[in-house]
This record gives sequence, C-alpha cells and structure tokens, in this order.
Amino acid sequence: MPSPLPAVLPGSGDNDYARYMHTDDLLSLQKGPGEWVHPDELLFQIVHQSTELWLKLTRSHMLRALAHLDADRPSAAELLLHRAAEELRLITEQLHMLRSLPPARFAVIRTALGNGSGFESPGWALLRSATTELDIAFARLLSSLNLTAVDVYRGEPSDPLYRLAEALVGLDERIALWRTEHYTVATRIIGHGVLGTRHTPVDSLTKLIAHRRFPTLWDARTVLTQEATQPVCPEQVQP
Ligand code: HEM
Repeated sequence: MPSPLPAVLPGSGDNDYARYMHTDDLLSLQKGPGEWVHPDELLFQIVHQSTELWLKLTRSHMLRALAHLDADRPSAAELLLHRAAEELRLITEQLHMLRSLPPARFAVIRTALGNGSGFESPGWALLRSATTELDIAFARLLSSLNLTAVDVYRGEPSDPLYRLAEALVGLDERIALWRTEHYTVATRIIGHGVLGTRHTPVDSLTKLIAHRRFPTLWDARTVLTQEATQPVCPEQVQP
C-alpha cells in the first residue's frame, strides 16, 4: 500500500476517507460483541441498516424524478426511476442473506428487538409516500395532455410517456418482489401462523404483495385485455 497522504478535509477521522465517509460513526452504529444476545445479530442489524440506507437513496431518486415530472421532463424522470428500481432489486437480493439465519437463533435475537417492527421502517414509509406523490404527478401530467393511461398504452413503446409509465410499473413490480422475498424469508425463519413483533399475523403480509402503488397503470392493461377479449355484441355481427 502506498504511504498515506495527510488528511486535508475537515472533520474527525484519521484520514480523508474516514472524514468524508464518516466511517467512524458509521461503523459504530452496530451493537458490539459485548452487547449481542447472539453473534448473528450483526447480520440481522446490517441487513436492516443497509436497507434503510439504500431506501434513503431510492427516495432521493424518486423525489428527483418527481421534480422532472413536474417540469414536464419525462425522459429525465424515467432514468432516475430505473435507478430507484435497481436499488429495490439490490435490497431484495440482500434479503437472501437472512436465509442462513437459523430459526432458533432468530428466536433469541427477537428478544432484543422490543416492540420494533418493519412497519416502523422509515425507509419504507418514505418510499410509500414518494410513490403516492409520483402517482399523483403522473396523473396530473396525463390530464394536462388530455390523455389517459390507456391512451399511453395504445401508443408506441418508444414514446417518452409510455417509457415513463413502464418505469413506474417496473418500480411497482420491484416493490412486490421485495415483499414476496420478505414474506418468503420471514416465514422460512419464524414459520406460518405466528405473530410478528407488531402482533401482525405473518401470513397477512401476502395481502401486501398484491397491493399496487400505481393502480391506474395496471388498470390500463386490464382495460386493453378486456377490450380485446370482450365477446362481440350480437348487434355488431353482420347477418
Ligand atoms: C429475520 C428476518 C425478518 C423477519 C422474520 C421479518 C418479519 C416480519 C413480520 C412478521 C412482519 C409483520 C409485522 C410485525 O408484526 O412485525 C414484518 C413486516 C415488515 N418488515 Fe420484516 N422481517 C424480517 C426482515 C426484514 C428486513 C431485513 C426488512 C428491511 C427493512 C424488513 C422490513 C419490513 C417491513 C417494511 C414490513 C412492513 C410490511 C411491508 O411493507 O411489506 N423486514 N416483518
């Protein structure tokens, strides 16, 4: 390793990497060995904490996309929404790490969680409100153009509005995939028919998987399918 250069940035930390990244603070945010009820607490805590960090970034990308939407720049918004979807893919993948958490160990870790529950995740709460804002902004944009979501889906897939709609659908899909994986991992660890720390039946999480943040875009598909599969009205049939 080359000899270290002196730190020039302000702040605490031995070098500029530590000062810029705040690594001293960041790495002190997990319980230490003396506090663990089980060493796997570190795995549990880091998966949660890093999820919160990624969701902070996701929300920021979604709010930037919102600003582009409000300024009628659908393509710029679309790019940021793709980033947000990738971040959701990443936090879904990292849930896999918890598959190796044995149920008996989690039962011990659970005793250290108090009444803390994923329902209180600030990252997920902010994500939910950002999707609501995006949904409203997209509807506003369409109405300013005198268009419906069905009109958009009748158009060309290369159209900026179509692409934007697809980016929103992609985001919705990623949320559902996270929830599917979360439910799968949660039940693998705590089983079925039991309550979570918030006293919610774990199996009720399946209902959330079907919940859509951008319902109009899903309804548009339904309309197109129904139009195509509707039996022909007898009056329309030529004798
Ligand atoms: C050992 C792994 C996990 C188990 C056993 C588990 C279990 C549960 C249970 C039973 C619930 C229902 C609410 C309750 O009663 O607490 C829940 C909700 C939730 N959990 Fe987890 N969870 C795990 C990991 C995670 C991770 C890593 C996150 C990331 C932040 C997370 C985020 C959430 C969220 C956001 C909800 C609200 C439901 C939703 O929006 O889909 N959980 N979890």
